[in-house]
Amino acid sequence: MSSASEQWQNPLRDPRDKRLPRVAGPCSLVIFGVTGDLSRKKLMPAIYDLANRGLLPPGFGLTGFARREWEHQDFGQVVYDAVKQHARTPFRQEVWDRLAEGIRFVQGSFDDDDAFDRLADTVSELDTERGTGGNHAFYLSVPPGAFPLVCKQLARSKLADDGPEQWRRVVIEKPFGHDLASAQELNAVVNDVFHEDQVFRIDHYLGKETVQNILALRFANQLFEPLWNSNYVDHVQITMAEDIGLGGRAGYYEGIGAARDVIQNHLLQLMALTAIEEPVSFNPRDLRTEKLKVLSATRPAEPFAKTTARGQYAGGWQGGQKVPGLLDESGFSKTSCTETFAAIELEVNTRRWAGVPFYLRTGKRLGRRVTEVAVVFKRAPHLPFDDTATEELGQNAFVVRIQPDEGVTMRFGSKVPGSTMEVRDVTMDFGYGHSFTEALPEAYERLILDVLLGEPSLFPVNEEVELSWEILDPVLRYWEKNGSPETYRAGTWGPPSANAMMARTGRHWRRP
Ligand code: BG6
Repeated sequence: MSSASEQWQNPLRDPRDKRLPRVAGPCSLVIFGVTGDLSRKKLMPAIYDLANRGLLPPGFGLTGFARREWEHQDFGQVVYDAVKQHARTPFRQEVWDRLAEGIRFVQGSFDDDDAFDRLADTVSELDTERGTGGNHAFYLSVPPGAFPLVCKQLARSKLADDGPEQWRRVVIEKPFGHDLASAQELNAVVNDVFHEDQVFRIDHYLGKETVQNILALRFANQLFEPLWNSNYVDHVQITMAEDIGLGGRAGYYEGIGAARDVIQNHLLQLMALTAIEEPVSFNPRDLRTEKLKVLSATRPAEPFAKTTARGQYAGGWQGGQKVPGLLDESGFSKTSCTETFAAIELEVNTRRWAGVPFYLRTGKRLGRRVTEVAVVFKRAPHLPFDDTATEELGQNAFVVRIQPDEGVTMRFGSKVPGSTMEVRDVTMDFGYGHSFTEALPEAYERLILDVLLGEPSLFPVNEEVELSWEILDPVLRYWEKNGSPETYRAGTWGPPSANAMMARTGRHWRRP
């Protein structure tokens, strides 16, 4: 795809130096859904942080679209407050002033043709006033029910039309449907208006440094790859635990649940990166090819009564505070069957992974906030020690700590100092904070910049989304037919069935 941004050259940058970050060319971003939490807490701060890092063009434009009766300056104030409250990098008045000059607001609803015509005028004014060159990205931070209408309006007002000299891109946030059929419908609607290389589907986990580091750890080192297969690996555990509850999120979460919210996307992407074969290169096509292969080979293990667990948090104590159960959170039905905890076992039917279960679990109101990928190794085939010497020896593990406390832990056995031979588990740690002076950028900084650069590697394509639904759908159907989720007390690690699904094969969940 030849685009204006690819032709634009930052005069300060030596194009031969690949270590320097790429700077976005002339362009603007339009956000639909600017009154939502995501915009305030993530998107607006990320845009400022990018500007502060010098990665946006000097004439960058930012347009908000919403129903509120706001003037440009009211929206500017909203962005300012969001930046002040949530930006990662320090506030610099001169950066803000430059960004503020490019802020615009268009008032209207999604069914209002005039509003979209005004939006078209606004972006073309930005082209004249700020030199955005006809290059515009449209960020749909809106419920999926609104996608079809917004896409239709963008088509009608010709905002979706790209050309040899200008690009137009659309960014969509999950959920991409609630099952395979609805995802296919949604994709059809989006692809009616935009061709596939204009579409950027956000899975913000792929924007996280620690997630991208899975590829570096696996494919830049000699140490791990020889062991990374069913000869040595016993199983893989992927955990995304959160301590927060769902107060205030009923509108989105009721009827969706933990599996659709994060397993279908974030956790299956983590699984895919852990399990893929080495890509021929890291260009988007080669990486995608490997991800598609591994997702195609993945199935949920059966019988689901024994290989899955589903829970809903009840009231309890967390962080010294009494917290309500889901059924007492505002907006949730008193008979809600929405799960707040989900765990599944997957099989990856490839030569590398046959027989190695991948366990995925996630939950709200769990013991603490932690996301990790743990590769747990088989025991040594022979232990030439007295039985008592290795009583406290567990299984070796390689753990990628996605967040917080980002880094990697290796667990292995070591002799306890003393006159007898006693082996106990110890850990060896790499922490970003100790090893690098560079701070970790927010996922949304990386992803928004990639949209503006037209760099699609970190965005799941249509087929990945559909394959992920194919994996999850049978479990969701089984759960729907088989009663309600088990309850678990807030602040614990999920329902008893979660432990049972591991215990039946003599395994157990790590306590991160
Ligand atoms: C979102 C989910 O995608 O990820 C939320 O919808 C979840 O339910 C959030 O809380 C977690 O993101 P992070 O980056 O804080 O792990």
